[in-house]
Amino acid sequence: MSDLKGLKVLVVEDDEVLRLSLCATLRDMGHHPAHAKNGAQGIDYIKENPNVDVVFLDVNMPVKDGIEALEEIKEINPRLVCFIITAYTNIQDAVRAIKHGAFDYIEKPLSREKISNALERSVTANALVEAIAHSAPQLNFAKDRSIIGNSSSIVQVFDIINKLSKVETPVLIRGESGTGKELVARAIHFNSHRKKGPFVAVNCAAIPENLIESELFGHEKGAFTGADKKKIGKFQFAEGGTLFLDEIGDISAAMQVKLLRVLQEKQVTTIGGNKEEATDVRIVSATNKNLEKAIADESFREDLFYRLNILPIVLPPLRDRREDIPALVDFMIEKFNNTHNRKMKKIEKDALAVLRTYSWPGNIRELENVIEHAFIIENSDIITTAALPGNLIDRQGASSSGGTPGDDVIFGKDTALNYPALKEKFEREFIIRALKAFGGKINQTAEHTKMTKVTLLRKLDKFKINPKEYSQPR
Ligand SMILES: Nc1ncnc2c1ncn2[C@@H]1O[C@H](COP(=O)(O)OP(=O)(O)OP(=O)(O)O)[C@@H](O)[C@H]1O
Ligand SMILES: [Mg+2]
Repeated sequence: MSDLKGLKVLVVEDDEVLRLSLCATLRDMGHHPAHAKNGAQGIDYIKENPNVDVVFLDVNMPVKDGIEALEEIKEINPRLVCFIITAYTNIQDAVRAIKHGAFDYIEKPLSREKISNALERSVTANALVEAIAHSAPQLNFAKDRSIIGNSSSIVQVFDIINKLSKVETPVLIRGESGTGKELVARAIHFNSHRKKGPFVAVNCAAIPENLIESELFGHEKGAFTGADKKKIGKFQFAEGGTLFLDEIGDISAAMQVKLLRVLQEKQVTTIGGNKEEATDVRIVSATNKNLEKAIADESFREDLFYRLNILPIVLPPLRDRREDIPALVDFMIEKFNNTHNRKMKKIEKDALAVLRTYSWPGNIRELENVIEHAFIIENSDIITTAALPGNLIDRQGASSSGGTPGDDVIFGKDTALNYPALKEKFEREFIIRALKAFGGKINQTAEHTKMTKVTLLRKLDKFKINPKEYSQPR
């Protein structure tokens, strides 16, 4: 049981029985509750009593509902910890509430344990928020582990990771292969109050279908032919921590049903076991599949998607944040200097230009492989173009104008073979890509595209391209 006492807690709830019993429980736990019977009264109370620590807000109330009240409370005091109380069927409200700044939601029926848990978390997480830099260009979360990047898209991801670290909701991480999904899953875990608990990763695509249930939930001895000893499941291993379900888009229909039940009931049953056991595990899942499409063709359950995807994180492909490449390369050089016991100083300008204009279908993992390859090939202490894999340089022309492999930017949907029009389209697209790669800097773009500055400026004028649109704060 918790030693936490003495918090000033405001309960905003229209149901009198619930309101009074929640206050009685809080008082009994050693806190100082106050109550209001609708959102408007709650706001008045907060205005008059700025020292409230935590608010419990019901969603459906007359006069001013919980979400409206939440918005106003956050205006008065953005740091005030607010929990939304919601019926289990109203997960939609919980999602809205969290988007509006609720710290987390608590499902009805309330219990002393749920309340105590919530209060405990609000305190640890608040201390954590203080410790986390807000828009750091890199997010350090464990020894030797950082997520690098300062493009606006990745900084947004840092911000979401920080928010997600404070709540208990399931998270679904989406992104192409190699974009850092597992890294982000770890960051969420190690930034959360569960950081001292285990982080258990399961690759759902790598486990044969007939074994996955026992892998996740465990089995009793003799539960089925071949079950000669008791097996502990990943859920049990992850107790008190985070379970990372990688490649969730690959699980079978039968497993989807079982997982949905666990998410709803927060209980698991081992195979051959006869009782359900409560589980305290946070689920973070990841996929590079298009789940909306899988839902449409009925290979993925919509209700499960909904439960997993309460707060989504979408990781941008590397080609959409090329401005992060120099920092990533520096980070990797340092990393491989350590593992390969080398003293590589930097990367040559031209070699970096190749990396900045390549399309990176394999994203950051591919970049990592390229740098490691260069470490092996390069004898000097500067990575030169010659040390880059040949395919990267060969594909250079195609990839720098092509975006993702296979998408046809030059011709696009155009079927007309109109040379002057297509030439202009190509030129325009080429210049935009180059500007993006060099952060809108005219001199650098001209130099690396082997155009004169005058030609480049003329073309910018001709195509009405504003290079400032491609500059990124660095
Ligand atoms: N922003 C980043 N900063 C530093 N390293 C990164 C970053 N993103 C990814 N990496 C590194 O790139 C590699 C691939 O990342 P990770 O395994 O997390 O990707 P993934 O999305 O899970 O890939 P897959 O879909 O193939 O499983 C890892 O070595 C990871 O440490
Ligand atoms: Mg992965």
